[in-house]
Amino acid sequence: MKPVDLPRLDLRGFTSPVQFLPRLTDDLGVEIWVKRDDLGSVGLAGNKVRKLETELAQARALGATHIVTEGSRHSNATRAAAAAAAAIGMKCTLVLCHDEPKEPVGNLLLDGLFGADLRLVGDISWVELAEVTSGVVRDIEEAGERVYRLPIGSATGRGAASFAYAYAEAERQMEAQGAVFNTIVHASSAGSTHAGLTLGRAIRGNSTRIIGVIVAPEVYEDVPGNYLRLANEAADLIAPSLRITSSDLELTEDYLGEGYGKPAAGVTEAIDLMARLEGIVVDPVYTAKAVAAIIDMARNGTIEGPVLFWHTGGYHAMFDPTYATSVWSDIPRLRDIKL
Ligand SMILES: Cc1ncc(COP(=O)(O)O)c(C=O)c1O
Repeated sequence: MKPVDLPRLDLRGFTSPVQFLPRLTDDLGVEIWVKRDDLGSVGLAGNKVRKLETELAQARALGATHIVTEGSRHSNATRAAAAAAAAIGMKCTLVLCHDEPKEPVGNLLLDGLFGADLRLVGDISWVELAEVTSGVVRDIEEAGERVYRLPIGSATGRGAASFAYAYAEAERQMEAQGAVFNTIVHASSAGSTHAGLTLGRAIRGNSTRIIGVIVAPEVYEDVPGNYLRLANEAADLIAPSLRITSSDLELTEDYLGEGYGKPAAGVTEAIDLMARLEGIVVDPVYTAKAVAAIIDMARNGTIEGPVLFWHTGGYHAMFDPTYATSVWSDIPRLRDIKL
């Protein structure tokens, strides 16, 4: 079926490539491809920029003057929102929690550079953060601005819809190279990537296995319930005859390890192999956990190729000293180098 074409801004400047990974394929014995959503222009890209293309088109249509969103100091979503707001000439306020790092590194540095007004609210819970952000929105509105608020992770049905389109985009790109993916694997947290890809598969009437590797189970109390809500909100917008049900979702916490941003088995090897064999960077918080899943399942014979690893970006975390130091000391070929 043909989905409804929602208005979208072009924030990435080009269609992110789909590439075959020959050396990783040789190493694992399963055909591996990558969708390079880590590349792009605005904000150094990542999956959040894709979602903002539909979201900010809507913000503009509603006459918004100011984007407000929330997240942790490390958030890729807030950084992408700040960059996109700069690119389209809107004001942006970010409400950021968690106390570390104190240094302006990684995404926090970029948030500031992109001109966002930063409200650093300390180490509070996600629920408290949402309340504080509502107060910030009220204040800005009272000052006469028209606010468009993005929820944590930019997780909306409209954002998920851009991933439904992206499924078909990747399918076309594989076809143009004489290939078809049987499995898609991606890092998953607030859910609109998984929700959108799942809807995209339903729109195309395919049976691709789509595995969401959960990296932050604490974002929602009811993770699958929220993913379903996002998928069906997206369906309401672009494919109203379709319904996504829980049997359409495939989520695994097997590669989460100690939790969000914390170590997990296989992460170091995933970073090492992707860098050494393919020259591609994956980060310890999100994408290395998805690659660890691919490596493990390929070795166990529980994944069918060709596999498309959906690279959702996030390598900015690698330049945060906390992560950089642990990556360096965990990889044997690096830790013996005298700096
Ligand atoms: C690099 C990266 N990968 C994956 C995700 C997960 O995307 P979603 O929120 O759509 O589940 C995020 C979200 O923060 C991210 O920043």
